Amino acid sequence: MITIENLLPADFRESSLRADVIAGLSAEPKYLPPKWFYDAEGSALFEKITALPEYYPTRAERAILAAVSPEVAALSGASSLVELGSGSSEKTRLLLDALRAAGTLRRYVPVDVSESALRGAGDSVDGAYPGLDVHAVVADYDTYLGMDSGDAGPRLVAFLGSTIGNMTPPERAAFLSRVRAALRPGDAFLLGTDLVKDPAVLTAAYDDPARVTAAFNKNVLSVLNHSLGADFDLDSFGHVAVWDPAREWIEMRLRSASGQRVRIPGAGLTVTFAAGEDIRTEVSAKFRRAGVAAELAEAGLDLRSWWTDPAGQFGLSLSVPA
Ligand code: AVJ
Repeated sequence: MITIENLLPADFRESSLRADVIAGLSAEPKYLPPKWFYDAEGSALFEKITALPEYYPTRAERAILAAVSPEVAALSGASSLVELGSGSSEKTRLLLDALRAAGTLRRYVPVDVSESALRGAGDSVDGAYPGLDVHAVVADYDTYLGMDSGDAGPRLVAFLGSTIGNMTPPERAAFLSRVRAALRPGDAFLLGTDLVKDPAVLTAAYDDPARVTAAFNKNVLSVLNHSLGADFDLDSFGHVAVWDPAREWIEMRLRSASGQRVRIPGAGLTVTFAAGEDIRTEVSAKFRRAGVAAELAEAGLDLRSWWTDPAGQFGLSLSVPA
């Protein structure tokens, strides 16, 4: 059985996109939050990215989940799986299978901003797991985790795909504290984190020769064109991916090829770009085990298990309230 609970205000998309665009494109340097990549086209482009030979994170995390899901299921004993930012829920099947084999699973709670992604993923999970109570929650985990909807414990809360890498360190600290505050004794938190590695491998993953990532990056400008009536010319912006060795994150940017002026009527804004000026569209932080353990500890979470794929590209951690 599937139920969908929508916790977003009716005008959430338009009003928060407008506020983000006004804040980000009036700032110096300019930025846009990565969550606006994911309209239908952007979500399809992200799915294509996950299949690129250069983009290893999805395959590496899937390999870890394939190997350790039974252990995660045994350690958590979870009756509810809550998945934050569930997207297509593709890798989640490995966890659902293991929890079902362990005999503890009753309820799956995917939480995502995209109601269409939740309906698609929720329906296919519902079809594949008869008897599972699928309670999809439409929420933005930046403001609301969607976790107090009456799911029986113990709960396993999963945040996969290294989506946490989209946050800056202070944003991560705030997010992890909110996760910690929502956990009850006996619950566990499963976190996927992409790891620091050879910068050439990292930059190739974010600047592929087939230019799928470039199209994904530029798609945020189409989102502004469609949603706010903006007149961005996608051809006059270039895709840039740079590794910042001090912050240990990849930064994606869109670089204006020339001096230009862009009108964004839906945000009441006209934005001027100098030739070579960048919009920062995403940070994708990379992690080390010690740093993950320290950030979890700072939020009141105790890292209990740590797994990587055989090549050590990606890390998966299981932590519990300290
Ligand atoms: C979905 C945020 C984990 O940072 O690797 C892929 C998004 N950006 N290629 C990432 C992304 C460029 C992805 N996350």
